[in-house]
Amino acid sequence: MKDKIEQILNEVKAFKADSKEALEQFRIQYLSKKGTITELFTEFKQVAPEMRKEMGMKLNELKNTIQDIIDEQQKNFETKSEGKTDLDLSLPVDAMNGSRHPLSIVRNEINDIFKRLGFVVAEGPEVEDDFHVFSALNFPPDHPARDMQDTFFVTKSPDVVLRTHTSSVQVRVMEQGKLPIRIIAPGRVFRNEAISARAHCIFHQIEGLYIDKNVSFADLKQTLYHFVQEYFGEGTKVRFRPSYFPFTETSAEMDISCNICGGEGCNICKHTGWVEILGCGICDPNILKACNIDPEEYTGFAFGMGIERIAMLKYQINDLRMFFENDLRFLKQFENA
Ligand code: PHE
Repeated sequence: MKDKIEQILNEVKAFKADSKEALEQFRIQYLSKKGTITELFTEFKQVAPEMRKEMGMKLNELKNTIQDIIDEQQKNFETKSEGKTDLDLSLPVDAMNGSRHPLSIVRNEINDIFKRLGFVVAEGPEVEDDFHVFSALNFPPDHPARDMQDTFFVTKSPDVVLRTHTSSVQVRVMEQGKLPIRIIAPGRVFRNEAISARAHCIFHQIEGLYIDKNVSFADLKQTLYHFVQEYFGEGTKVRFRPSYFPFTETSAEMDISCNICGGEGCNICKHTGWVEILGCGICDPNILKACNIDPEEYTGFAFGMGIERIAMLKYQINDLRMFFENDLRFLKQFENA
């Protein structure tokens, strides 16, 4: 048996695979369940006790040598076939060149503020059904937002749409039935709008939902006021204007004092001193009911803002299309942001 092991050792040492397949063949021949090594281990059972130690060591050495040969030669093939790139894709992200997109920077900053208040990030699908985007949110069947003008339909009956807002994620969280709820839903949304400096058919939102016992409009105001102070700076004023959304009652839009001119009046605020940044309101009892939450026991507030709008205010960008063109001259300005 000793000679046999020596002979195989010489054999394998001389082996040089010329392809990945040949190497795999080699592995099967020696190391598979029915391979040479298994055979040798079976033979080993018959070895005389005084020889066992030596034979055992030799056999293990042979096995390890074969494994080493395979590992070593495998590397050759990997670097050869993947040699098209000299990037090390396993390096940690920090070591790579590049920077975050301004929309990601702003989204992360907003998320962080709400996370500190106890909100958790929730996500949902971009391709949605009518129920989650409209019906569960109290949109009447003939509401104009469902119209072909606004919504991208994937299929009609059953209605499959690209979500027009991330309120659909709120519905999905409410459906899970775990209360209280305190979530923010950042994500990409789609509306069939003509592309211009102020509008795009793809944009991003962050929506928030808070449902618990005794949640009031005062809680909503305080939460959003805190967000504005954190994000736009201490002393930024807020004002709420009555508005309408099918899923909130009372509904409001919130303006902040223009962060460019400080309220004096400029082009950005159209000389009013105020800029609108979000829609919000107290959850309509109907949407709680649609998700089996008892509106007698629970109340909630919701809000939603466009990330592009916040980023435009923060960085004084006046054309929304910039965010989607991926022009490096634009993106490079955020390298250190
Ligand atoms: N979903 C609304 C929109 O897309 C924003 C909003 C969210 C308004 C929550 C009120 C409450 O315009």
